[in-house]
Amino acid sequence: MDELRLDILEGVGPITAKKLTDVGIHNIMDLIVRGPVELSDITGMDKDTAEKIVNKARHQLIDEGLIVKDFQTATEIYKRRQDIGKITTGTNCLDMLLDGGVETQALTEVYGEFGCGKTQFCHTMCVTVQKSKENGGLNGGVLYIDTENTFRPERIVTIAQCHGMNPDEVLGKITVARAYNSSHQTLILQEAGPIIQNNNIKLIIADSAVGLFRADYLGRGTLSERQQKLNHFVHLLSRIAETYNCAAIATNQVMSSPDVFFGDPTRPVGGNVVAHTSTYRIYFKKSGKKRIARMIDSPHHPEQEVIFILNNAGISDPDVDSIKRKKSME
Ligand SMILES: Nc1ncnc2c1ncn2[C@@H]1O[C@H](COP(=O)(O)OP(=O)(O)O)[C@@H](O)[C@H]1O
Ligand SMILES: [Mg+2]
Repeated sequence: MDELRLDILEGVGPITAKKLTDVGIHNIMDLIVRGPVELSDITGMDKDTAEKIVNKARHQLIDEGLIVKDFQTATEIYKRRQDIGKITTGTNCLDMLLDGGVETQALTEVYGEFGCGKTQFCHTMCVTVQKSKENGGLNGGVLYIDTENTFRPERIVTIAQCHGMNPDEVLGKITVARAYNSSHQTLILQEAGPIIQNNNIKLIIADSAVGLFRADYLGRGTLSERQQKLNHFVHLLSRIAETYNCAAIATNQVMSSPDVFFGDPTRPVGGNVVAHTSTYRIYFKKSGKKRIARMIDSPHHPEQEVIFILNNAGISDPDVDSIKRKKSME
């Protein structure tokens, strides 16, 4: 897109443009996503210059109608929110929990213990986002940041088949980035701008968002540094979701917190940092073969629970008949 070229900004010549590209800033959108503080950190330019460039970038994007102005009427906000797309989860129960599906311009955090279905959920969403709009998708591609080496194309094939879609086409629209450590994971996201634009990415997944930060910063002494770095990653992810109008899903592990005596003694590892950034938080819990999903502190959803299952289609609605059958046999 020519209107996003760095060198159309006043004061940005070919030399500055090259300097920016070298540090992974490929277009004007990237300037906004990274912000002036980071820009000055990575390029070594002084803070004032960085601020000026980012401001010019912001004005350019406002003029192009690609981002919103600083001051806007409620009508304008309402309009921008009309652009929010919803991606079906492929199940009635989770679509109901999410009031239609996973939203764009938002970060949805899914947390829960090992084996509760977070990765299965992510795989399912890789398929459903590719459905047509009439069928609940956004006709879009996926960027999958795999930090635990649990992305399985074979799973995508099966899920796509269950949804009556062509597996080869579905695989072709998923870009997978394997992250090896926490700074690599952040770098992948920083460089994602052109990939998002060129591949019509409508869903970005970080599975898990937290694991590598946890591994890289072990021990209490490094806890604040870990939170700071994780905070940076998660904010970047939600800014990208807002700027590019795509959905973002971040998964999070839970750990036992011994200070909880009542209720479920598990807490998300990312702690408050992730909680305050994500717009929606869903908690997955095992219940025998079934799974429970609960919506936690959403700005406009009631707190409620639904039951789903894991099967060949990824995640599915529970088979009501089999539950009834089982009940009648008891
Ligand atoms: N094809 C399948 N059919 C039914 N269950 C499956 C299938 N593939 C994986 N599972 C189940 O998914 C669970 C693992 O879920 P996963 O999403 O990897 O958990 P996590 O929350 O740790 O990411 C396991 O209980 C596994 O049995
Ligand atoms: Mg997993």
